[in-house]
Amino acid sequence: MMVDPSSLPERDSYRLMISAFVPRPIAFVSTRSLAGINNCAPFSYSMGVSSRPMVLAVSVGERDGRPKDTARNILDTREFVVNMVTEATAEKMNVASGDYAAHISEFEEAGLTPVPSDAVRPPRIAESPVNFECRLIRAITVADNTVFFGEAIRLHVDDAVLTNGTVDIHKAKPIGRLGGPRYCRTQDVFELRRPTVTGPKGAGKTEAR
Ligand SMILES: Cc1cc2nc3c(=O)[nH]c(=O)nc-3n(C[C@H](O)[C@H](O)[C@H](O)COP(=O)(O)O)c2cc1C
Repeated sequence: MMVDPSSLPERDSYRLMISAFVPRPIAFVSTRSLAGINNCAPFSYSMGVSSRPMVLAVSVGERDGRPKDTARNILDTREFVVNMVTEATAEKMNVASGDYAAHISEFEEAGLTPVPSDAVRPPRIAESPVNFECRLIRAITVADNTVFFGEAIRLHVDDAVLTNGTVDIHKAKPIGRLGGPRYCRTQDVFELRRPTVTGPKGAGKTEAR
């Protein structure tokens, strides 16, 4: 089939998009409100943007025409933490995605443990083995979403998931988001080495991305 997405009703467009653009990493974003309430919620419209400086982007939609708590907190404080979602934290992440009022902390609802961050006010999620402490560098509105670009000014990685200085996927066991209520594990891993190109563009850059 071929479709013009603009001709689809919003719900169908959403369902098709989240089933077609897969798998997506899940940014489990913790924030703190001006009133001091710790908030956390998952966002799979997320991406890595830059490695040095280390920048991540998270796209937050609206709820009934109003900003979600995460968006409001980031705009108010210019700080957020992106936490990894693993097989072990999947259920709690799902609980945290519920529509709770702003004065309710998803940490308590989901049974997650807030631990102080090093450089920002929002707490990290203790159960997540990887946490990026981010400072907002830019917010861009796209339709009814706000894309938050955060520079990671601290990166925490639990030593238990490290192998040779990088995150070992078999130890961390992150999960990804698919369409509908579906998720994927990341344990069926294979390797490809990028080809060495000797030509005008390449000259043997084996470390290229
Ligand atoms: C796996 C998963 C991924 C999600 N991704 C997004 C997303 O990319 N953008 C979005 O606006 N909401 C997303 N949601 C829904 C939010 O998590 C949900 O609206 C949440 O209640 C927002 O919480 P807040 O009001 O505390 O910010 C996702 C939910 C789940 C379970």
